[in-house]
Amino acid sequence: MAGNRFGTLFAVTTFGESHGPALGCVVDGCPAGVPLELEHIRSALRRRRPGSGGASTARAEADEPELLSGVFEGKTLGTPIAVLVRNTGSRSEDYDNLKDCYRPGHADWTWEAKYGLRDHRGGGRSSGRETLCRVAAGAVAAQFLSRYGIVIRAWSSAIGGITAAGMDDPAFSLDEAEANPLRVPCAQDAARIAERISALRAQGDSAGGTVSCAVTGVPPGLGEPVFGKLDALLASAMLSIGAAKGIEFGAGFGAARSTGSAQNDRLMPTAERLPSQAPAARYETNNAGGVLGGIATGMALLFTVAFKPVPSITRAQKTIDRTGAEREILIKGRHDICVVPRAVPVVEAMAALVLADLMLLRRADRHQPC
Ligand SMILES: Cc1cc2nc3c(=O)[nH]c(=O)nc-3n(C[C@H](O)[C@H](O)[C@H](O)COP(=O)(O)O)c2cc1C
Repeated sequence: MAGNRFGTLFAVTTFGESHGPALGCVVDGCPAGVPLELEHIRSALRRRRPGSGGASTARAEADEPELLSGVFEGKTLGTPIAVLVRNTGSRSEDYDNLKDCYRPGHADWTWEAKYGLRDHRGGGRSSGRETLCRVAAGAVAAQFLSRYGIVIRAWSSAIGGITAAGMDDPAFSLDEAEANPLRVPCAQDAARIAERISALRAQGDSAGGTVSCAVTGVPPGLGEPVFGKLDALLASAMLSIGAAKGIEFGAGFGAARSTGSAQNDRLMPTAERLPSQAPAARYETNNAGGVLGGIATGMALLFTVAFKPVPSITRAQKTIDRTGAEREILIKGRHDICVVPRAVPVVEAMAALVLADLMLLRRADRHQPC
């Protein structure tokens, strides 16, 4: 099975199924000497675990990481970094009725159409649980990036049709987003969203929403035209997350309804020079979301990822079975009502992996004596 490796120089391979013995990742290409403790990975995984906000699965997993290689006395060795997380809380019998039929909206049928067989327990590798591997690898990337002052913060910007306070709203608080389990940056909005989620739960339904992300400290010039554009790589990274259905940068799809005079970010005079000798970029606005021509402007990198509603809902649904006959299914198992709060650290992790890779690739930008 191909497609389990991500990145060029700072690369990660992930493995494991939802109800198999374990999941994990191998990060290859992380330079030697980066401070890394097991606790960095453990606390990143803790943020991805189901919260108590009613939107998350009741599956209780310890998600305790084991660091198998690549780190010695608190520093990376430059060798592959392997992280293993054992599955301890799976209840595979909940999925027995899915062995022979396909959940609408999930990947059951497409996996079987492709491979002719699948691990039906918990969705196998198409489970949201797969994202823990990304979060473990992202914790390594974030440690590498912190040396350059690059900070990545994401939050739930909309859930179930309710849009939370945006960055320019005085009610917006990233501390609040960290404090409530829905990861909503405003306590009042979080309360409204919690009500919406419990109503959907009572109806046996689920919700979609968006995760927004801001990255500061990105050096101007990051990104590799033309096929390795910063925005193209981020889009690929984000759309590889289960249930992710779209991404927009800066003014996003709104720009399509706008005009050039309203959208163009005005460049302001500056005395500073970049290593390339170009004047340092200073923009009055950031409609571009921190990227032009696939290259970082030096302004905050801003993007929003759209997630569809969780496919595994508890109300009865019509589908087909392996014989092709029509069936009605009732899905058991412990499912999220909305993936958005738990996708927040996943979005951050994928952004960290993209940026770590580009930080290594940019060392090839211009000739410098060794
Ligand atoms: C963090 C996270 C948690 C998820 N939890 C569930 C879940 O509990 N139940 C479910 O049916 N899908 C869940 N999903 C979504 C499925 O993984 C996804 O819909 C499925 O793989 C099909 O892929 P697609 O929606 O991208 O086409 C989750 C996704 C993420 C990112």
